[in-house]
Amino acid sequence: MQQLIANPAQIVTVNSNGANVKRGHKANNLDVLTGHSIIIENDLIVDFIANDKIEKYKFDNIINVKDKVVLPGLVECHTHTAFTGSRAEEFRLRLQGKSYEEIAESGGGINSTVEAVRKATFDDLIRVIKPRIDYFISQGITTLEIKSGYGLSYYDEIKLLQVISELNKIYPIDIKATFLGAHTFPPEYKNDHSKYLKIINDELIPYIAKNNLAEFCDAFCESTAFSAGEVNRIFENAKKNGLKLRLHTDQFNSIGGIDIALKNNALSVDHLEVLPDNKILDLAKSDTVCVLLPGVSFFLNYSYAPARKLLDNNAIVALATDFNPGSSYISNLNLIMSLAAIKMNMTIEETITAVTLNAANALNMQKSVGSLEIGKKADFSIFDTTEYSDIVYNVGKNLNSITIKNGKVIFQNNANRKFD
Ligand code: NIG
Ligand code: FE
Repeated sequence: MQQLIANPAQIVTVNSNGANVKRGHKANNLDVLTGHSIIIENDLIVDFIANDKIEKYKFDNIINVKDKVVLPGLVECHTHTAFTGSRAEEFRLRLQGKSYEEIAESGGGINSTVEAVRKATFDDLIRVIKPRIDYFISQGITTLEIKSGYGLSYYDEIKLLQVISELNKIYPIDIKATFLGAHTFPPEYKNDHSKYLKIINDELIPYIAKNNLAEFCDAFCESTAFSAGEVNRIFENAKKNGLKLRLHTDQFNSIGGIDIALKNNALSVDHLEVLPDNKILDLAKSDTVCVLLPGVSFFLNYSYAPARKLLDNNAIVALATDFNPGSSYISNLNLIMSLAAIKMNMTIEETITAVTLNAANALNMQKSVGSLEIGKKADFSIFDTTEYSDIVYNVGKNLNSITIKNGKVIFQNNANRKFD
């Protein structure tokens, strides 16, 4: 079936001329087309044509996007959407001056969500997660990563990954699963790390890989969680089992995570709020994507990652919400883009590249999504404005009015308009 995405005000292609990534200052070049429409065939982009040539063609369907801005379908590459239970009480404690780490050390934090997730059934989890995915789709997100990490037992980590796999079947978007069994030590193994590491390495990783329950393996390298040595053992094992790697690191302490991630060719290093200067060049020389999460800095009232230094030194920078109940109860990617611009000095263009092509790199999907190029997926987010900078200028406001995945309209809402 041939369709036309007809007559938009702007097509923000994020074209990389086949490079499929935009390092450093290249992230500023969005390659914006005007006076053109996009031809799609089934689930793929097949051509861009000047509007005065449209009559020469016949289409099975025309999607009129006059006065709108077309972007690649957004890629949300780091979330912990698979959780249940509220941490509002913890939020209240933090507002009174307790730190996130203090709360974690006294048994709250991640482990309080673990308690809630362990009590929840498969069906309970599906029910609470669904509206979150609907909300992501309403923002123009067509590729979504979700981590496990709140089960922290053989049974409960597999339960979470099965939930994510079921959601991927229910929803038309691509939902990519990451195994985060190494999120923190569960209370029963607080004083016996080797026992929990054995469950991760000998039981969970082989089972997950064999049953295709996750594509990626993540860990939290932090003084309150896993040491660099422990992460290294997990990574070597995950790699052997065919999983790709990503790492939460340098959030509160820099304890060697970057070196382990680079040594093991991780797809991404995420957080980096306390990244030391001497690691910036190492990252810039690598193909590892720096996934920055300014929502965490905002939510915890904490320092921001050195986005400017990373970009100025030619690193690959992506952005994500890190949506989770403790450190970033923020599921609005638009807000994250604006925070990145306002608080981390990223340009509007850099923030757009960071939630499209570079985020696709963090998920190893850059060959099929993240930019509008011939042969790539017909995934689009279509914003109700005529100028793309409005997307970042409208802080926290969802201007996405149409989400298209694989050539199909999966969300439409005429109310998501820019104010006149
Ligand atoms: O990415 N840093 C570790 N994990 C999450 C927080 C999880 C939680 O607090 O529940 C994060 O910030
Ligand atoms: Fe995270």
